[in-house]
Amino acid sequence: MLKRIPTQQVRLGMFLQSMEGSWLSHPFWKTKFVLREQSELDALLKSGVVAVWIDVEKGLDIQEAKPLQMPALPPEPPRPQEPQPAAAPAPAPAPASPPPGMRASLHDEMGRAAQIVSRSRAAVINLFGEARLGKAIDAEQCLPLVEEVANSVSRNPSALISLARLKTKDDYTYMHSVAVCALMVSLSRHMGLNEAQTREAGLAGLLHDVGKMAMPIDVLNKPGQLTDDEFAVMRSHPVRGYEMLLEGGAVPAAALDVCLHHHEKIDGSGYPKKLKGDEISLLARMGAVCDVYDAITSTRPYKNAWDPAGSIQRMAQWTGHFDPVVFQAFVKSVGIYPVGTLVKLHSGRLAVVVEQSPVRLTAPLVRVFFSTKSQLPIPTELVNLDLPAATDRIVSRENPTDWGFKHLDELWMKAPG
Ligand code: C2E
Ligand code: SIN
Ligand code: SIN
Ligand code: FE
Repeated sequence: MLKRIPTQQVRLGMFLQSMEGSWLSHPFWKTKFVLREQSELDALLKSGVVAVWIDVEKGLDIQEAKPLQMPALPPEPPRPQEPQPAAAPAPAPAPASPPPGMRASLHDEMGRAAQIVSRSRAAVINLFGEARLGKAIDAEQCLPLVEEVANSVSRNPSALISLARLKTKDDYTYMHSVAVCALMVSLSRHMGLNEAQTREAGLAGLLHDVGKMAMPIDVLNKPGQLTDDEFAVMRSHPVRGYEMLLEGGAVPAAALDVCLHHHEKIDGSGYPKKLKGDEISLLARMGAVCDVYDAITSTRPYKNAWDPAGSIQRMAQWTGHFDPVVFQAFVKSVGIYPVGTLVKLHSGRLAVVVEQSPVRLTAPLVRVFFSTKSQLPIPTELVNLDLPAATDRIVSRENPTDWGFKHLDELWMKAPG
């Protein structure tokens, strides 16, 4: 049986099945072996890998290796500095969180993620509102939020990322900031960045589009294609955002950099500086991928959302926009079939992806709900395609609009069963 544990809890004698981020950032690491050398353990602890999967049938389990060491949960820090809109109802107490770094199921994380999304959204509305009024941006005020987002993403990356994808036409800019924050955190971990860098990446994601607050509101929210003149105005948002952050002072260099350069493209055709290749910093190249993915998977006043898997496929075909290495890591982080994707199974059933498999990108947990043979809904059922006994498999990704399903999101959000 596989268990995901924080790297700090790894002990000699455990069977190391896989490492998060190992595919890309630690090619020198072998996995699927019993950890016997202290030097190997030390290297793993220093590697920045946040969590690993152990097989407790082939090596020591977590209790045997270190009995009674589950740390007590620190209380949630008070958040007095965080502005809440006056009309917002008092939030219900957050469901208890598992220990930091411990994996939670999508369903278990959903309640916490929903509260974090709603608090983050309120905080961004407030912060960006002040920016629109010309007040200085206090970036440090965002750090506790980034921390909460990062913790949710490490318990279950899909919960917050999938919730933040669901936007209304009015809150796009704010929810987009929260979504890019979460996507940056998840991508950073898959690229093997350390926790401090991961927090900086998250903060940079949260603030990357603050310059949109300097754009005329009727252009920003225009329910149609922009004219060339309007688009020329929009293209000034990275520079305007950079200036706003500079004025606020105390903004990490990473956030300034991502704000200014998230619309650069690897072939030099982006803006504002037409930077090429690795003239663009790693974090800005990461920002570009996360930004576009969330933009195209969101419903907009001027166009419908593309489905997550279709978006990944299209982005993979655009040459010259993204850094291919960063893009590959991104696909590892959200999945080839991200949560919410409509798929057809070999059995002819349609299903929605509910959770990624920790080991196989092509074998997620899905919820079946429709038979293409009878063309009728069937009782919903969770099917884990990654079980050795699984008899079904994904044969294709389906376009939800072709089928006319309107409530697919309810299928990954609902309780297990
Ligand atoms: P955004 O909506 O947050 O989009 C960020 C980036 O995602 C875009 O940067 C673009 O690279 C990508 N993207 C978004 N939608 C599409 C799409 O339908 N097709 C493709 N291929 N890529 C897409 P870009 O183009 O530099 O735009 C910057 C910002 O300008 C956008 O941020 C949005 O606020 C605004 N904008 C761009 N086009 C339009 C439009 O046609 N109508 C309106 N109302 N705003 C637009
Ligand atoms: C891009 O490369 O950024 C977009 C290309 C496209 O829309 O096909
Ligand atoms: C269903 O058949 O369960 C409804 C799916 C949908 O309409 O999105
Ligand atoms: Fe932008």
